[in-house]
Order: sequence, then C-alpha cells, then structure tokens
Amino acid sequence: MDSCIEVGKRIQPTGLSYPNKALLMRLLSSRPVLQGVAMNSAFRLAGLGCLTAIVASGQTVHSVGNIFDPQATPAQSVFSLSLLVLTICAAIFLVVAGLLTFTIVRFRRKAHDSREPAQVYGSSRIEIAWTVIPILIVLVLTLATARAVLAIQNKRASADALHVTVIGHQWWWEIRYGDLGVVTANELHVPVSTTAKPALTFLRLESADVAHSFWVPQLSGKTDLIPNQINSMWIDPQQEGTFLGNCAEYCGMQHANMLLRVVVQSPGDFEKWVVAQKKEASADQPLDAARSTFLSLSCVSCHAVSGTSASGTFGPDLTHLMSRATLGSGVISNTRENLRAWVKDPQAIKPGNLMPNMQLNSRELDQVVTYLWSLK
Ligand code: CUA
Repeated sequence: MDSCIEVGKRIQPTGLSYPNKALLMRLLSSRPVLQGVAMNSAFRLAGLGCLTAIVASGQTVHSVGNIFDPQATPAQSVFSLSLLVLTICAAIFLVVAGLLTFTIVRFRRKAHDSREPAQVYGSSRIEIAWTVIPILIVLVLTLATARAVLAIQNKRASADALHVTVIGHQWWWEIRYGDLGVVTANELHVPVSTTAKPALTFLRLESADVAHSFWVPQLSGKTDLIPNQINSMWIDPQQEGTFLGNCAEYCGMQHANMLLRVVVQSPGDFEKWVVAQKKEASADQPLDAARSTFLSLSCVSCHAVSGTSASGTFGPDLTHLMSRATLGSGVISNTRENLRAWVKDPQAIKPGNLMPNMQLNSRELDQVVTYLWSLK
C-alpha cells in the first residue's frame, strides 16, 4: 500500500489540465449517459449546475443540482424552509424597495425650489417599529430553522433501517454496508421508501484524508465528511431512479470529479443487488490467465477482489466493478473501451488521481481488462 501511495504522490502532475477539451468532446459524442456526465462537468464549470433528466439504459437519472424537486424527507424539509425564508425576504424587499421608490418619486426635488426640507431628529415610534419588527422576523426565521434542523437531526433509526458507512477519499467514495457484508464505491444503492413501507437509510460519514461533503441535492442537504470525526445523516428517497450528487467541499485537484450516484430501487431489486454484491468474484477457468496477470501486478496492493489474493484497501473494491455505471467516481461511463483507456492511463482521464499509469504492455493491458470485465 505504501508504495502505491508513494507512486501516487510522485506522479501528481503540477499543472491543472482538466477539463481536457479532447476528453470532453469525446464524452459529448458518446452515449446519452456519458453526455450527462460530460455536460454535467461543463455545466458545473460554467456555474449553472443544472441539467435536465436523462434516460439511460431504462433507468431515470434525475437532474443534478435541483434542490427545487425534493424526493426525500430531509430535502423536502430544506425546501419548505427555503420557501419560507425566500417569501419573508421577498416581502422585506418589496416593502423597502416600495417605500424607497415612493419616496424618490413623491419627494423629488422640484425645479426652482431651493428650500431645505423639514429636518426630523428622532421619532420613538418609528425607531421602536424598525427595531422590533426585524427582531421578530429574525426570531421567526431562527425558530423555523431550529425546528427543521432538530427534526432532521433527532430522527431515530427504526429497527429495520439500513446502515451504511460512506468514507470520503481523494477523489472517490467508499461505501460499506456493514450489516450486509457489501463493499462498493461511488454508487450508493438504497431501497425506495413508500408510505406503505417506509425505508430509512442512515449514513455514517467518515473521511480517509481531507474534508469532503456528501451532497445529493434531491435527497438531503450537505453533510461534511471530516477526518477523525464521525458525522451522520439519513435519507428516505421516495422515488426510484438514479440521483446524482457530488462532493460539496473543496478537497483538492479532482474535487469537481468526485461524483456520486444514489440508486434508489424497489425493495425486490435492492435485495437482488445485495445478493449479487455478496458473491465472490467468479473463478471461471477461461479467465485463469487474465486473473493471474491481474494478481501478479501491483494493482492488488490498492484494490480488493473478494475470493482472490487482491486485498488492497487504498482504492475502490473491484469485486463487482462491472455492476457500476461509471468509472473514476463518475468521470466516465463504464464501457469496455473506457475501462481500457482508464487502466492504460488513468492520469489522462482524471489528472492527479492517485492511480498511477502502470505502464502495462498491451498483452498485460488486454489481460487486465479481460479480467476486470468479468467482474460483474
Ligand atoms: Cu471530496 Cu471535494
């Protein structure tokens, strides 16, 4: 593991070259979900951060950055509170701007009128009014905020709640379902919550290096992942589909490419996913050569594949890599071509990420890709 960290450090490029225009164009010319990811980067860079829903491989991918379409209780609570705050602020704006406009128009200096207007020094009534009213407004806002914060914070986990540990890394998400014995990365699968069958997912948030922040706008507000501290949050998504999120705390060079997906599934589909994820990697004989090439390389000091000698924990667990929609924490979609490009030179796709260019020859590259491709 140490050598991997050192190699990672050594190959850190000095200049920030992402977004790479060529990559962006290649992404844009590819499949719809890819366009989503690439355009998403482009949009976020442009500061727009909003994208209409994309439909890829039959699964709805909800727009990213849209806090105005909440699909879980914590997000709904944040949304309602923001509407109250916006309404009060809009009313204040209208009153102040209205009075100002009225005064400017009504008491405009008239031509040939050089008299000084009446000078008023102090009015207890007005002063009391403009002290008391703002205090009341601030009090209402404070109480409403405190109520929303406490309601979310004090939520107790029901006996059947799902508990997941999410660990932030530069620049990917480690996801551990301790009770279920499942380890994955970058794509959090949770069951949908319905009135008939509420399903709560409690997240235990940790960091392996620097501060990150877990943010899936349609599901909840942001919660930071801080080294040596355990934070928590919960979600109860009420609609199936994939919700996009991203790291919301600047955590280094590839912070913007620390993307996150929450896949909300029916209870049945979620069960199936868990069963599939718990399986060990297939030990098919035709893959023997590919597997031994993979296991002979230093990939195994950073990555784990269950049922093999690969047990590194520095990088994402690869046991079911092919069950994930993206590679590099959302930076490219998971196709064989992209997988090959990633293994060949991850630095060309996500500069600065801690996976070095392993300088594989083309035979090794073929074998590694063949093996990884079998990890369904
Ligand atoms: Cu992790 Cu920003």
